[in-house]
Amino acid sequence: MNVHYHSYDAVIVGAGGAGLRAAIETAGKCRTAVLTKLYPTRSHTGAAQGGMCAALANVEEDSWEWHAFDTVKGSDYLGDQPAIDVMCKEAIDAVIDLEHFGLAFSRTPEGRIDQRRFGGHTRNHGEAPVRRSCYAADRTGHMILQTLYQQCVARDVNFFNEFQVFDVLYSGEGSDRRMAGVVAYELATGDLHVFASKGVLFATGGFGKMFRISSNAHTLTGDGPGVLFRSGIPMEDLEFYQFHPTGIYGLGILLTEGARGEGGILRNGLGERFMERVAPTVKDLAPRDMVSRAIHAEIKAGRGAGPDKDYVYLDLTHLPPEQIDAKLPDITGFVRTYLGIEPKKEPIPIQPTAHYAMGGIPTNIDGEVLVDANNTVLPGLYAAGECACVSVHGANRLGTNSLLDIVVFGRRGGKAMLEYIQDVPHPDIPRGAEGPVRERIESMKAGSGGEKVAEIRTELQATMTADASVVRTDESLQRARDVIAGLKERYKEVKIDDKGVVFNYDLTEAMELGHLLDLAQGLVVGAQARTESRGAHWRDDHPTRDDVNWMKHTFAHLGEDGTITLDFKPVVLGKYEPMERKY
Ligand code: FUM
Repeated sequence: MNVHYHSYDAVIVGAGGAGLRAAIETAGKCRTAVLTKLYPTRSHTGAAQGGMCAALANVEEDSWEWHAFDTVKGSDYLGDQPAIDVMCKEAIDAVIDLEHFGLAFSRTPEGRIDQRRFGGHTRNHGEAPVRRSCYAADRTGHMILQTLYQQCVARDVNFFNEFQVFDVLYSGEGSDRRMAGVVAYELATGDLHVFASKGVLFATGGFGKMFRISSNAHTLTGDGPGVLFRSGIPMEDLEFYQFHPTGIYGLGILLTEGARGEGGILRNGLGERFMERVAPTVKDLAPRDMVSRAIHAEIKAGRGAGPDKDYVYLDLTHLPPEQIDAKLPDITGFVRTYLGIEPKKEPIPIQPTAHYAMGGIPTNIDGEVLVDANNTVLPGLYAAGECACVSVHGANRLGTNSLLDIVVFGRRGGKAMLEYIQDVPHPDIPRGAEGPVRERIESMKAGSGGEKVAEIRTELQATMTADASVVRTDESLQRARDVIAGLKERYKEVKIDDKGVVFNYDLTEAMELGHLLDLAQGLVVGAQARTESRGAHWRDDHPTRDDVNWMKHTFAHLGEDGTITLDFKPVVLGKYEPMERKY
């Protein structure tokens, strides 16, 4: 196995929106490398559809404070309010920056950036839905990704495409520990690359592939959080995992909430608009946790559709065909391709789909990674985007706040990393730092065990979807915990059939499975400990929110023996007092 050594000031791992936005801050100002296991333009940001919200007030009266209020309420009061204020205030400039970078937003007839409605976004603290989401038809993420990539190319960013990070390197011990670099695996050759770097920013996205029905691409395996978790960095609020209400039935492919923003309606198998009962003011535009639970309840009550009564419908048939063509061209194409249905004429079978991790690598508002519940920073280590937990989404993210999060905190993380590297010496990485990765690869290839990656992953996904998704109980979570413990034992016996070095996906999938197992274990342990219902975490055996005992974030620590322990950090409140969440 060949080993190559590189030296940079700033290494960014992941080339989706957060990573690229961070790179724009550092490129040309310090030696920057961006590593991605894909090609940048294949990153999952490209799958985001419905928009990025900012209180531009282009179409209706709006204010960033209303946006902040909605985000706090949407988070079920678990989001840290100072961080939410930063995000909502900076949203306006973030959209204008993107426009100046060349992003072709959809326009009003007067030529201003158009805005559409989205779940949980309201005027004047819940009075009525507001048009706050800036969008480019139903391919907003795609447009953001292309625009940011072009800006990086224009700034001569050094991309290392198809380089997958398998390990992190630190220098110093204890409180002197600081970031020193990463070890990456080159997919095309099987070579290892050691990147010594003063600063490293992780922007690797989510881990939705631990669930069977998911809107996430196959690449969303939690690589950044997984690598850091194993290296002793805690994970925050893993129990809060979002299910998007409208995934294509049986497949999970995302059908944007923008479809309801454009007037689409959810109907049960009896044709009833059930969201009127659940959220009389905003109806189908309630936040995702509530809509997903309402769908679950309809199905459980026998009011689902289809032979097994296990889905409901997204109905667009009443919308003008030209509106569908102009505003929702991609998703209606998906429905035709994957279901063989004409969405202008027939309602679309949908079900909740695993979509977004609210929890992840704990950071402050400058993307600095926290190593404990006392907000201690690990110098030189940053994270942004879905892999990070700032926490601006708390227990439930509002739609369109993710594209916002990646550009706001990608920019802040990149800027903070650039400042940090000015004053620190270059890390001295000894030759052989890649040793532990090399040994892991060699032992997986030499393994004589009979366990297959695909079989373990399939069981993990089935368990997580059955027992740790929209509705949970102590019993279901214990079942998931036991299954995961067994799968982790079996994982030790995984056998890699492909012994080659060229695009060995057998090997990379085995590594990815390790991350999914650890993060799934963290999710389930947190969910079992949290004996309340809040946001996306619904416990049928504890169906109320418990502000006395649970206004706190969980910090999960993965021990060397594979066990997980939790500690806790209080939620940072602000001007919005927790109250009952009604829409
Ligand atoms: O529904 C959507 O378009 C998804 C948006 C989001 O997750 O923010």
